[in-house]
Amino acid sequence: MTSNTLPGLTFPSPWQPLTGLPHADLWVKRDDLIHPIISGNKWRKLQGFMTQIRQQPPAKIISFGGGYSNHLHALAYLCHQLDIPFIAMVRGNYSLNMTPMLNDILNWQAQIHWLSKLEYQQKHHEHWLASKIPDLERCLVIPEGGSAITVHAGMYNLVEELPDNLDLLICPVASGGTMAGIIQALWQQQRKTRVMGIAVLKGQDYLEDLVLNLLSDAQAKHHPWQINHDFHFGGYAKTSEELSQFCHDFSQLTSVPLEPVYSGKVFFALQHMLLNGALPEHEKIAVLHTGGLQGKR
Ligand SMILES: Cc1ncc(COP(=O)(O)O)c(C=O)c1O
Repeated sequence: MTSNTLPGLTFPSPWQPLTGLPHADLWVKRDDLIHPIISGNKWRKLQGFMTQIRQQPPAKIISFGGGYSNHLHALAYLCHQLDIPFIAMVRGNYSLNMTPMLNDILNWQAQIHWLSKLEYQQKHHEHWLASKIPDLERCLVIPEGGSAITVHAGMYNLVEELPDNLDLLICPVASGGTMAGIIQALWQQQRKTRVMGIAVLKGQDYLEDLVLNLLSDAQAKHHPWQINHDFHFGGYAKTSEELSQFCHDFSQLTSVPLEPVYSGKVFFALQHMLLNGALPEHEKIAVLHTGGLQGKR
């Protein structure tokens, strides 16, 4: 297997019309169908790291996330495929209450370190990490959510798969890497497509800065983009009966599967904005489905 391929990858991901909503030119970029496990933004975000891994194979790969993390799940699978030991640094101790995602990653031979909230906050400090991982200098450390400047490599390919005449692309925002990579790629490819991020957590005061800090070319900030903070439903992974019902009804209506943490909030926002006339009528609009459906189990 060469490092930039994996059995079961589908490229380009499907570009599907979205019917049943009050807008004529509406599309979904089905990145959730890229791969049965490394789906959505995961493969796109990890592609840049793949180049690094190929150039200098690390002794181990280390990364961070919660007990339901799609990122840890995808990365554990990837490491298993590449035969590279993986250490998952997990916020909280789920050892007596394993989630389906954690069971999967154990089956893929990952080693798990359970971290208290306080310890988890230390994750950026090399001293602290070195005290946990003795051979740290031979390891590749991938940040939480896989969000780093390297995401541009994969997002560049995503943008190449989008039609030139797309006016608006809507995507979820959590750690900011996906949106930053898309902005960067659109800027580099001199596309006119605007980007709207839907914040899936309460990030009013810092999400914009997170995105700005993940642009590899500071000039890309001039590309038209904005984050909408109206649809986080109280915070990360917070939901409501209305949102759960929406996810169910929407999936029935459109055959696009949703989960409430990312895609549910984004499509809810889309529907709300369309019904309230908040999106221009004659534009070509697309939503990026970033996957995450494993988290729904
Ligand atoms: C399925 C899914 N969609 C969207 C996001 C948000 O992307 P980002 O963290 O790059 O903002 C995540 C988190 O990485 C995710 O797991």
